[in-house]
Amino acid sequence: MKRLDFLVEGLKDLKTVGTVTRSSRSLCRNMIKHVNFKEADLIVELGAGDGVITRFILEKMKPDAKLLVFEVNSKFCDILRSIGDERLIVAEDSAEELDHYLQQLNATKVDYVISALPFVALPKELGLDIVGKCYRFMKQGGRYVQVHYSLLSKKLYQSIFGNVDINFVPFNVPPAFVLVCEKK
Ligand SMILES: C[S@@+](CC[C@H](N)C(=O)[O-])C[C@H]1O[C@@H](n2cnc3c(N)ncnc32)[C@H](O)[C@@H]1O
Repeated sequence: MKRLDFLVEGLKDLKTVGTVTRSSRSLCRNMIKHVNFKEADLIVELGAGDGVITRFILEKMKPDAKLLVFEVNSKFCDILRSIGDERLIVAEDSAEELDHYLQQLNATKVDYVISALPFVALPKELGLDIVGKCYRFMKQGGRYVQVHYSLLSKKLYQSIFGNVDINFVPFNVPPAFVLVCEKK
């Protein structure tokens, strides 16, 4: 998908997409540097868009690992499916359905969650539900990595994980924060 097409999807439904530009390479690299790919068997990505971070994750993942991605925009899901990687499972569904998909996969634990969900624009209860489920299914020592363009939602992660580490990424439009929480 071209940048212009992403812009169109963003403009069509800004409340759900949350932005009109996909993440920069610099932001993608910052998001995935918090993942220990040698020990990651199941990674979950929330709000995958047209797969810009997805491709970075797949490039680093073990051959026998799985990547479960959630995306509600059907055009983006078509693009994600066209990646055609056996390790990639595309859930054309809302991230709050995480528990059902894990059940279908017979998976009890998630190693890492990488999220670009626009929580600032989504209802607060939905954010609490999604991040709460991620915490519940995450293995001890696993990490939840979230991108934001402000620190307005920091308290959401603090209240669930009890810790949030903040990284600033200037080379993105707009400049972004990568929030990293660990399940202690
Ligand atoms: C800010 S965009 C990020 C796209 C891409 N990951 C990137 O970094 O450029 C957020 C994405 O989250 C998706 N989204 C919004 N609400 C969602 C939900 N409840 N479940 C799954 N995806 C959702 C939107 O459709 C959009 O593609």
